[in-house]
Amino acid sequence: MRTTFRARRPFSLITLSLSIKKAHVKHNSSLLNFNHHTKLIASPRSQALFARSFAMDMKPAPMPKLLYGTAWKKDATADLVLAALKAGFRGIDTAAQPVHYNERLVGAAVKQAISSGIVKRGDVFIQTKFTSTLGQDLSDLSSLPYDPNAPLEEQVHASVASSLQNFRYSESEEPYIDCLVLHSPLHTIEDTTTVWKTLETYVPQKIRQLGISNTPLPIFDYMCISPAITIRPAVVQNRFYPGNDWEKYLRAYCREKSIPFQAFWTLTGNPQLLLSDPVQKLADYAGVERPVALYSLVLALGGTSILDGTTNESHMVDDLKGIEIVNDYAQSADGQNFWPALLAVFKQWIGGER
Ligand SMILES: NC(=O)c1ccc[n+]([C@@H]2O[C@H](COP(=O)([O-])OP(=O)(O)OC[C@H]3O[C@@H](n4cnc5c(N)ncnc54)[C@H](OP(=O)(O)O)[C@@H]3O)[C@@H](O)[C@H]2O)c1
Repeated sequence: MRTTFRARRPFSLITLSLSIKKAHVKHNSSLLNFNHHTKLIASPRSQALFARSFAMDMKPAPMPKLLYGTAWKKDATADLVLAALKAGFRGIDTAAQPVHYNERLVGAAVKQAISSGIVKRGDVFIQTKFTSTLGQDLSDLSSLPYDPNAPLEEQVHASVASSLQNFRYSESEEPYIDCLVLHSPLHTIEDTTTVWKTLETYVPQKIRQLGISNTPLPIFDYMCISPAITIRPAVVQNRFYPGNDWEKYLRAYCREKSIPFQAFWTLTGNPQLLLSDPVQKLADYAGVERPVALYSLVLALGGTSILDGTTNESHMVDDLKGIEIVNDYAQSADGQNFWPALLAVFKQWIGGER
């Protein structure tokens, strides 16, 4: 998506953390009261059994290292998504943003893959997004998944309903989405919170987990610690490129909180990395193409996954196979000599890791 999103109201991370810590104490004590109350109506054992079976039923599919990105595929979307699933992709990223994505065709391809036995619904990590009016093409109102003049809550409800409809693959089973990503923070933290709280009402039954994209670190920090937020982000999706220092600080924060970082622009935003020494050497040593070598080094940073939007079916197969080839190489006798040094030099190329 080429639209640039900017949060209009940046605020200090430190000020925010301090005020939130105070409020957090209050929040925790009300949680304790709630737990005390629930003990009165159910034994600890039945509560635990209920919680375990509920959690098992409502778990998202595992998030793979490479997710298939569906932006800009237009009418070829269904064919390409089906090809990606046949090639072995088990994660799909789309958005309810018709100007760049065709979510309906993504859903149609998943449905076809399920009905022809290529995949089971529970094996595919399906991720879509709520895109506010900031990222929509307002010159084509009829294509939008909601009325842009409706209140924010109604926009979210309409967008989620339309996404769920696109991912309905059987009359008898209720559709659900593995991860719903807020495409970008809104102009104000109040509006961002309103949208997030509305999305929270769908978790875990209709939406297994929530994520956020195009977010600066202070807003992400707010989402992770503010008592106003009940369901914490489970995924962050941002650009991986020199223009934001390859999100060095945000990725370190994600690692600390065990929240996966999904990278986009990994190839398109990094022509210089594709020609860098560690990428070229790894490609030579492991016998893979340079894009695969770059993907593998980014994955090795830890806590990362990659959005791969190739339109080439050979690349689909080679990318999935290639990251396994590099994995095997890293564990081979040769790889044990070279891989740690290549990774260390790669980290220097991206300005050092925190
Ligand atoms: N959250 C957001 O705001 C946002 C913004 C942008 C993108 N995204 C997501 O990220 C996905 C990926 O987008 P992207 O901007 O990172 O770029 P991309 O769509 O993955 O484009 C990769 C480019 O590299 C080329 N390429 C060459 N060798 C390749 C290989 N081995 N594997 C893959 N590509 C290869 C591709 O050409 P070929 O087609 O010929 O392989 C293509 O031109 C999107 O589809 C979307 O799902 C999200």
